[in-house]
Amino acid sequence: MKSLIFYFSGSGNTKLIARTYASKFDAGSLVFPIGNPNVGIPNIGDFDIIGLGFPIHAFNAPEVVVKFAKSLPKGDKKVFIFRTSGEALHFNDHAARKVVRILRKKGYEVIQDFHYLMPYNMIFRHSPEMAKHMWIYARALVTYNTNKIIRGEYDKVRYSVFRGWHLPLFRIEWWFAHINGRHFKVDYDKCIQCGLCEKTCPVGNITIADGKIKFGKNCAMCMGCSFNCPKAAITPGIFKKKWKINGSYNLERIANDESIPFPCQDGTLKKRLLKYERYYKRADFLLNNEGISLK
Ligand SMILES: Cc1cc2nc3c(=O)[nH]c(=O)nc-3n(C[C@H](O)[C@H](O)[C@H](O)COP(=O)(O)O)c2cc1C
Ligand code: SF4
Ligand code: SF4
Repeated sequence: MKSLIFYFSGSGNTKLIARTYASKFDAGSLVFPIGNPNVGIPNIGDFDIIGLGFPIHAFNAPEVVVKFAKSLPKGDKKVFIFRTSGEALHFNDHAARKVVRILRKKGYEVIQDFHYLMPYNMIFRHSPEMAKHMWIYARALVTYNTNKIIRGEYDKVRYSVFRGWHLPLFRIEWWFAHINGRHFKVDYDKCIQCGLCEKTCPVGNITIADGKIKFGKNCAMCMGCSFNCPKAAITPGIFKKKWKINGSYNLERIANDESIPFPCQDGTLKKRLLKYERYYKRADFLLNNEGISLK
């Protein structure tokens, strides 16, 4: 089964999941970043199945993902959705609802909407221990979900009418992202002009001219630029340092680092408000049923 996997990603979590999915499907599968309106998409007809992944922003899909779904041609392919986020709150459960509605209107059949816990990329940082825990489970769950798709076992993707009331309220983040994006600042004493931010902004919102870094009005608040800057030179807007976390979690490396405990024992899993225990209990149930190991 040849897959075409679209993803939006700021700090790389969703990209890593997208690549892991692609590696489980047949050769010729393709991962394709979305966000840049000037880049045409591959021909969907050349693939057997479509994936669409995004990070949850303010309990919703980012605006750019909704716009992308709207821009897709009509089709009848099966689509699986994957969303990544830092907490297992119920508030995150309906993030794909709008995207799913759009896809269905266009004729696509949505066969899965799965939530992967991955480390937080703004405001606070998960510990390496918790990040390792998240990634080891996430990659096993990708195997679980891909096996199901390949066997033709599809989920009934449904959303309760009583539970998504908060989604339109929090979509204020879409508007806020554009405003806040104009207030990103660069510390030129730290910046080494490496050009990484300009090259990797998923929506092409950064331009560098005469050594000056300019942020346009299309910021999607993905945090990719400030997170990945090798010199931590970018301050992401109005809330300044409070929102900034910098530096890759190096998930693939820490998964193999024996000095970092697994399962996580630093107390994060016990944070009742964030519902991690509930999430991983279900994950254990799914993986055990399939005989999928975490190694
Ligand atoms: C603007 C913004 C809003 C976010 N909102 C949420 C949220 O509502 N719930 C949540 O659990 N995580 C939230 N997160 C955390 C991200 O969803 C999470 O770190 C995600 O895995 C990042 O994926 P990426 O690396 O592919 O960009 C938010 C992150 C950003 C930057
Ligand atoms: S990524 Fe950081 S160091 Fe590199 S050009 Fe951008 S601001 Fe400067
Ligand atoms: S400017 Fe920075 S935060 Fe905004 S979309 Fe581009 S990479 Fe993401």
